[in-house]
Amino acid sequence: TRPGGRRLRQPIVVVLGHVDHGKTTLLDKIRRTAVAAKEAGGITQHIGASIVPAEVIEKVAEPLKKVIPVKLVIPGLLFIDTPGHELFSNLRRRGGSVADFAILVVDIMEGFKPQTYEALELLKERRVPFLIAANKIDRIPGWKPHPDAPFIETIRKQDPKVREILEQRVYEIVGKMYEAGLPAELFTRIKDFRKKIAIVPVSARTGEGIPELLAVLAGLTQTYLRDRLRYAEGPAKGVVLEVKEMQGFGTVVDAVIYEGVLKKEDIIVVGGREGPIVTRVRALLMPAPLQDIRSREARFVQVDRVYAAAGVRIAAPGLDDVIAGSPIYAAENEEQARRLMEAVQRE
Ligand code: GTP
Ligand code: NA
Ligand code: MG
Repeated sequence: TRPGGRRLRQPIVVVLGHVDHGKTTLLDKIRRTAVAAKEAGGITQHIGASIVPAEVIEKVAEPLKKVIPVKLVIPGLLFIDTPGHELFSNLRRRGGSVADFAILVVDIMEGFKPQTYEALELLKERRVPFLIAANKIDRIPGWKPHPDAPFIETIRKQDPKVREILEQRVYEIVGKMYEAGLPAELFTRIKDFRKKIAIVPVSARTGEGIPELLAVLAGLTQTYLRDRLRYAEGPAKGVVLEVKEMQGFGTVVDAVIYEGVLKKEDIIVVGGREGPIVTRVRALLMPAPLQDIRSREARFVQVDRVYAAAGVRIAAPGLDDVIAGSPIYAAENEEQARRLMEAVQRE
């Protein structure tokens, strides 16, 4: 349920990048970091996503308090796993993307690769603000790992030669970004984050740099996206990520809700192959706490309502023809449902 008194919803953060540059490992590490800090609240699993709550981000970023003071007004960050760019392409909403922010993962030793450029194009086209996670810093020859340490601490403890390679590699990324028309810089050197894209060196393996990654993500989203994140009480708006079969429920859809509240029994309008489908929510399913929802053993719990931002599985009659990537809207009555059908048709 929704923490009381919060006026902003969680920013939806999507991870993109070239194959094997470490997207999944990075998200796993963030999740584990959050679980390890769980006296402070742990994480909540969603369908295709997980939320790292504000308390956890503050705790992980605690050692940085003097350099990057983060007092959070967002309730947390919702991370979406995107196994490929196709899923990101699905995250469309009128005039932009459901993603509020993105992490472009670049293997620091490999640099930009074809899918890095592809991801850049997608981000530009949808106008999604992002930062670059320069991943795998532990693979720099001679790197001495300091598990889970902030980047600014671990880098001070490295040999001059190692620091030099890191600088060269970052400089390389800055150059590629410059060529793409997007000024970027190592986050420690940025004065105005509206003018430069932050490069945050991390290791998804050792956890180094994760404190800064979370702090910068939280800081940027809550500072620059505040209007977009203002929580709206109205009926839900979302987008379908996947359509699948589920035993006992028939065809279900996995969706990301980016606005409002979705309730059991709500009328929903969703795009189908033969035109908009109007149906009624029979069940809302969330992963049971702390289960990996990707595992086949994943257990689900039914809930009565979900508040944006959230990933949720929706069971309802007549979902067989739903198309992944379709908008999904809740309606307060039949009249509104009719109007929404036209909107869905247009999108
Ligand atoms: P796709 O989903 O296939 O595009 O790949 P991905 O970007 O999700 O990469 P993934 O997380 O699967 O990582 C690819 C390989 O790189 C795995 O063997 C990881 O263990 C390794 N890897 C990821 N991050 C790091 C890191 O920070 N350091 C090191 N040394 N290895 C890493
Ligand atoms: Na991989
Ligand atoms: Mg992956």
